[in-house]
Amino acid sequence: MQLLRNKKVLITGAARGIGKAVALAMAKHGADIAFTDLEIDDKAKETIKEIEALGVRALGYASNAASFDQAHQVVKEVIREFGRIDILVNNAGITRDTLMLRMTEQQWDLVLNVNLKSAFNYIHAVSPHMVKQRAGSIINMSSVVGLSGNAGQANYSASKAGMVALAKSVAKELGPRGIRANAVAPGFIVSDMTDQIPEAARKAWTDMIPLRRGGTPQEVADVCVFLGSDLSSYVSGQVIPVCGAMQT
Ligand code: NAI
Repeated sequence: MQLLRNKKVLITGAARGIGKAVALAMAKHGADIAFTDLEIDDKAKETIKEIEALGVRALGYASNAASFDQAHQVVKEVIREFGRIDILVNNAGITRDTLMLRMTEQQWDLVLNVNLKSAFNYIHAVSPHMVKQRAGSIINMSSVVGLSGNAGQANYSASKAGMVALAKSVAKELGPRGIRANAVAPGFIVSDMTDQIPEAARKAWTDMIPLRRGGTPQEVADVCVFLGSDLSSYVSGQVIPVCGAMQT
């Protein structure tokens, strides 16, 4: 069953990790995929090939999601190629973890710009097209720490809390125009980002998870497929944790 047949999708930061899993999962369901990453390097080119191998179109753009102008340029080009954007996944994200007392202004600004302002940039650029279509699904990649807060991640947690409130606000504002917006809040997902966490800290995390394991990018991607598809046609303004019951 192809839940996203002929849908046009734009995903930020999808050369690898969770974004790539979302791209492949949506492509498997029949969607054409445009994605961005900081550069279209060999990894990103491999992602393009893997998407195309599923029989759909793939477009990769080297673009900094934190840049308002670059985001608008990408959306213009995707609209020129695809004619429309049905699903926007604001996935690009980084961490610069440190304790509040040591956090620099640069660490705060960088994380807020890449994780939260990027979503504003893309929603701002995409929503006029979705309003014209009178349809669209926006998915913001948040995190469970955006719901709970986390010591050593004040910048990251604040940015991810912002992703929830941004999705809820857009859902209320653009709902009357047929646009849905939701947030996904992954818990501990095994990826390049979490591979950087020391082994002992990783074990401490998994011991706290009722399902006793980290999630996979595929498990996050499956929820995104649901939120992008008509299966969730009455789900908007919500945040869905994907965390093995870590956050309840
Ligand atoms: P990752 O580091 O493997 O992938 C992130 C991708 O975003 C990379 O390809 C990176 O180059 C790209 N990126 C970074 N800055 C960018 C920018 N300014 N413009 C465009 N692209 C940019 O990370 P992962 O784990 O796949 O995370 C994806 C999203 O999921 C992030 O928003 C992250 O905060 C979120 N998340 C991840 C969790 C995890 O356990 N891995 C848990 C909760 C949320």
